[in-house]
Amino acid sequence: MAGGTIRLFIGVSSILFSICVSLGFNPEDSYLINCGSSSNVTVGGRVFVSDKSASNLLSAPQTISANAISKSNSSSFDSVLYQSARIFDKTSLYTFPITKQGWHWIRLYFSPFVHGSYNSSTAKFSVSAQTFTLVKELRMESDSFVLEYSLNVTSETLVLTFTPASNSFAFVNALEVVSIPDTIIPEAARTIDSKENNQSLTNKALETVLRVNMGNQTVSPPNDTLWRHWVSDDLYLTHNGLPRFVSNESAVHYTRWLTEDVAPSSVYGTATKLETMKEPMLNANLTWHFDVDPGFEYLVRFHFCDLVSNNAQSFILKVYINSLSVSDSLDLRSLTSNIFGTPYYMDVVIRASDSEKLNVSVGSRPEIVYPIIFLNGLEIMKISNSKSSLDILDSSSKTGSKMKVAIVVGLAIGLFTAIVLAAVLFLLCRRRRLLAHAIHSNAEDGVLNETESKITDSTAMFC
Ligand SMILES: *[C@@H]1O[C@H](CO)[C@@H](O)[C@H](O)[C@H]1NC(C)=O
Ligand SMILES: *[C@@H]1O[C@H](CO)[C@@H](O)[C@H](O)[C@H]1NC(C)=O
Ligand SMILES: *[C@@H]1O[C@H](CO)[C@@H](O)[C@H](O)[C@H]1NC(C)=O
Ligand SMILES: *[C@@H]1O[C@H](CO)[C@@H](O)[C@H](O)[C@H]1NC(C)=O
Ligand SMILES: *[C@@H]1O[C@H](CO)[C@@H](O)[C@H](O)[C@H]1NC(C)=O
Ligand SMILES: *[C@@H]1O[C@H](CO)[C@@H](O)[C@H](O)[C@H]1NC(C)=O
Ligand SMILES: *[C@@H]1O[C@H](CO)[C@@H](O)[C@H](O)[C@H]1NC(C)=O
Ligand SMILES: *[C@@H]1O[C@H](CO)[C@@H](O)[C@H](O)[C@H]1NC(C)=O
Ligand SMILES: *[C@@H]1O[C@H](CO)[C@@H](O)[C@H](O)[C@H]1NC(C)=O
Ligand SMILES: *[C@@H]1O[C@H](CO)[C@@H](O)[C@H](O)[C@H]1NC(C)=O
Repeated sequence: MAGGTIRLFIGVSSILFSICVSLGFNPEDSYLINCGSSSNVTVGGRVFVSDKSASNLLSAPQTISANAISKSNSSSFDSVLYQSARIFDKTSLYTFPITKQGWHWIRLYFSPFVHGSYNSSTAKFSVSAQTFTLVKELRMESDSFVLEYSLNVTSETLVLTFTPASNSFAFVNALEVVSIPDTIIPEAARTIDSKENNQSLTNKALETVLRVNMGNQTVSPPNDTLWRHWVSDDLYLTHNGLPRFVSNESAVHYTRWLTEDVAPSSVYGTATKLETMKEPMLNANLTWHFDVDPGFEYLVRFHFCDLVSNNAQSFILKVYINSLSVSDSLDLRSLTSNIFGTPYYMDVVIRASDSEKLNVSVGSRPEIVYPIIFLNGLEIMKISNSKSSLDILDSSSKTGSKMKVAIVVGLAIGLFTAIVLAAVLFLLCRRRRLLAHAIHSNAEDGVLNETESKITDSTAMFC
C-alpha cells in the first residue's frame, strides 16, 4: 500500500519534473504586472496580471490608471504592455513578498503617452529598490524602453519605490520582479587592471547596459529562457577589419554546467568573425565600441562558442577592453575539452574610468599563420557605486573629479594670491627704499606727506 503510494508519488513528480524541464526555467518568485489596466494580458506565453489583481502589493496615497494612447511601436511583441500606465502623484511603493532569497531581475517598462493633463514627456522621477537608487531623474525617451536591474534580495520582501520630482509625477507601464538562477551572476569577478583582485558582486545592484548578439542578429525575449533581449552587434562593430557573420545553431552543444539559461542557442549559435583565410598572418582585431557612463565599474561577460574552426587548426585568442588585456592567450579548445560547439563564457570587471567608451577587441597571437578570431555574445552590466547608486547623478568619480577641480582651483587661487602679495610687497619695499632715500635727502626740507609716511611705517616690518 505504502509502496504503491510512493511509486505513484515518484511517477507524478517525474511527470511534473519533465513538465518543468520542457518549459525551461520556472522562477520561484514571479510578479508580472500590467500597470494601470483592468485586464490580464499574455505576452509571448507569459501572463501580466492587471494591477487590480496586484493591488495588495501597492501602497500609494493617490494613483491614476491611464488607458494611455501609446505612441510606441505597435509592431513590437510587447506593445500590449504599453496601452496602459499607472501614474503616481506622490511617493508610492510596491512591496513584493520574496520566497527565494538570491538574485532577482527587476524590469521596468516605459512608453510615452498623454492622458488628460499628464504628458509623459514632462514626467520626472526617481526609482529605488531596497537601499539602491536605480535611476535618479528618469526622463522619457521618444519610444518605449525597458530598464533591467539585478538585485540579490536577502530579506523577505523587495520594496520598489517611485518618487516624483516636485511638481511632477511618476509612472510605469508594466513591471516584472522575477527570481533567476543564482549561477547567472557570479559572486565575484576578476578586475582587469590589477590581475590579483576580485570584485565581489553579492552586495551590489547591477543595471543591464546592453546584451549583444554577435552575428548581426537580434534575439527577442520570447526566444530566451530568461526573457533577455539581445541586440545585434552590427551597430557597434568597426567594419574596417573584414568581419563576417556566421550562424549554425545546430552546432551548439550545452553541458550540464553551462545550460541555455546562460545564453540561448540563438546567441551561441551565431558569431562575428574576422576573415583571415584569404590573408595569412593578417594581424588585426575585431573591435566593437559601446557608450557607457563614466565613473562606474562594469561587469563584462564574453560568450564564446567555436562554430568556425574546422577542428584541424589550433587557435589562441587575445581579448581586450579599452586596450587593457582581458586575456593574453585564451585557449578555447582546451577550455571546452576539444568539443566543437561547446559554449564558454568569461567574466571580468573593468574599473571606473573617466572614459565614456567601452571598446572591446578580440585578436590573435601574432605567431599564428591563419588566425581564427571571433566572438558570439557580450553582456555589459553597470555595478552600483559606493553610494549604492546606479545613476550618473550619484557618480562617485564625478564628485571625485569635482573635488579634484576644487583642489586645483583652490591651489591656483592660493598661488595667485601669494604672487600678487609678493609683487605688492616687492613694490612697496622698493617704494619704501626710494622713499627712505627721498626722506633722507629731503629731510631738511621737511617734504614728507602723510600717505608716504604711512606706507613707510606699514611696510617697515616686511622690508
Ligand atoms: C488575472 O489573473 C489573476 C491571477 O492569475 C486572477 O486572479 C484574476 O482573476 C485575473 N483577472 C482577470 C480579469 O482575468
Ligand atoms: C517600428 O518598428 C518597425 C519595424 O519593426 C521599424 O522599422 C521602425 O523603425 C520602428 N519605429 C520606431 C519609432 O522605433
Ligand atoms: C507633450 O509634451 C511635449 C514636450 O513638452 C510636447 O512636445 C507635446 O506636444 C506634448 N503633447 C501634448 C499632447 O500636449
Ligand atoms: C578570484 O576568483 C577566482 C574565481 O572565482 C578564484 O579562483 C580566485 O582565487 C579569486 N582570487 C582572489 C584574489 O580572491
Ligand atoms: C546574497 O547576499 C548574501 C548576503 O551578503 C550572501 O550571503 C549570499 O551569498 C548572496 N547570494 C548570492 C547568490 O550571491
Ligand atoms: C545586418 O543586418 C541588417 C538587418 O538585418 C542589415 O540591414 C545589415 O546590412 C547587416 N549588416 C551587414 C554588415 O551585413
Ligand atoms: C525566435 O526564433 C525563431 C527562429 O530563430 C524566429 O523565427 C522567431 O522569429 C523568433 N521569435 C522572436 C519573438 O524573436
Ligand atoms: C553546423 O554544425 C553541424 C554540427 O557540427 C555540422 O554538421 C554542419 O555541417 C554545420 N553547418 C554548417 C552550415 O556549417
Ligand atoms: C575607444 O575607441 C575610440 C574610437 O577608436 C577612441 O577614440 C577612444 O579613445 C577609445 N577609448 C578607449 C577608452 O580606449
Ligand atoms: C588589438 O587591440 C589591442 C588593444 O587595443 C592593441 O593593443 C593591439 O595592438 C591591437 N592589435 C592589432 C593587430 O591591431
